[in-house]
Amino acid sequence: MSTIKILKKQNILLMSNKFTYPLLENAFSKKDLNEGIKVIKSGQITMSSETLKFEKKFAKKNKSNFALMVNSGSSANLLSIAAACNPMRKKYLKKNDEVLIPAICWSTSLWPIVQYGLKPVFVDIDINNLNLNIEDLVSKITKKTRAIMCVHILGLSTNMDKLRKICEQKKLILFEDTCESLGSKYNNVNLGNYGDFGSYSFYYSHQITSGEGGMVVCKNLEDYNILKSLRSHGWSRDTKFHNFYKKKFKNIDEKFLFINSGYNLRPLDVTAAIANNQYKRLNQFINIRKKNRNLIIKTLKKNKRWNDQFLFFESNKKIKPSWFGLPILINKKINFKRKKFIEYLNKSKIENRPIVSGNFLNQPAIKLYKLKTKGTFKNADLVQKSGFFIGLHTTKLSKFKVNYIVEKLLDIDQIK
Ligand SMILES: Cc1ncc(COP(=O)(O)O)c(C=O)c1O
Repeated sequence: MSTIKILKKQNILLMSNKFTYPLLENAFSKKDLNEGIKVIKSGQITMSSETLKFEKKFAKKNKSNFALMVNSGSSANLLSIAAACNPMRKKYLKKNDEVLIPAICWSTSLWPIVQYGLKPVFVDIDINNLNLNIEDLVSKITKKTRAIMCVHILGLSTNMDKLRKICEQKKLILFEDTCESLGSKYNNVNLGNYGDFGSYSFYYSHQITSGEGGMVVCKNLEDYNILKSLRSHGWSRDTKFHNFYKKKFKNIDEKFLFINSGYNLRPLDVTAAIANNQYKRLNQFINIRKKNRNLIIKTLKKNKRWNDQFLFFESNKKIKPSWFGLPILINKKINFKRKKFIEYLNKSKIENRPIVSGNFLNQPAIKLYKLKTKGTFKNADLVQKSGFFIGLHTTKLSKFKVNYIVEKLLDIDQIK
């Protein structure tokens, strides 16, 4: 379409009040969809060679020792916790062991911990990076602490040098919920690879998407095989345990040798094929999103109406974020306007979300399970009071769109 035609179309949409800025636009390329269609037409829809192909590619490109695909990021978290609690593991987590977790997390970063009888211990966040506050974390380590679940919020990360050192010194298992940060690097290492387990999500609007889908990565062969067995009913098929049990239990059909507890968390080959094709464009997506982000912020700050109404999160020497959204904090002085402002953005068709869950401790489910908390969570509360994010698209934003977003954001001044 020519530029004039695009401008005309955008003006018509604007006049008819149909212009929208969604979290993500044109999520799938023709090729992505064709890869999925090919799998459907082959008749082999359930997990098979496409999944294996994607897992191998993911492990190689992400520089992870092992990668196992599952049907969602939530399943990746669940499987990681299940494996860490599994008695087949040499060192495994037991009931009432304490796991440190940030107050800003996703529900399924937390619930597997509770479901496995472990004790979540909540830690406030660092307002500079939305992630675990290391000082608060250190103050909450006790004799019962056995693990840390860190949650890399919206492409950002806590100080992984310090976190890794703490885990080494205290011999803690590290889980990295990287569902919002595929492709982010800390010290040039992909997030998800610091921990014993790392999880990723390919849900719609994340860094790459196959609609639904997820991946677990881990460091050692033992964990990989436990994860594999738990993913599929707890049977031995395709695991390194198979031959041992086959010889020991000759009277059982070797295809149905159940050696462990288990779930069915397998992905479809259809989603694996789509995700695999998207994954080829991850670096391209990262670069375009970064440019779109910088353009929005630069245009905003150059505007006559700019008066430090918002704060943004910056990359630094250590962290190179892979954004899928633009997290924004409303300046403390005017954050009382947040509710009305979000209504205004919704009315202006700029899709937005809270920063993950806000302070998760304020959610009703915490009370339902009577989860205990120690200390204050000032920063997590501040993020709930002031924060939101908008999407970053994987195609270059037009000037028109950037100006539209910027003008609507700056209209916060008009809200009383
Ligand atoms: C931090 C975090 N962890 C886990 C998940 C769950 O991922 P999924 O939606 O693929 O189950 C999400 C979902 O957005 C998330 O933001």
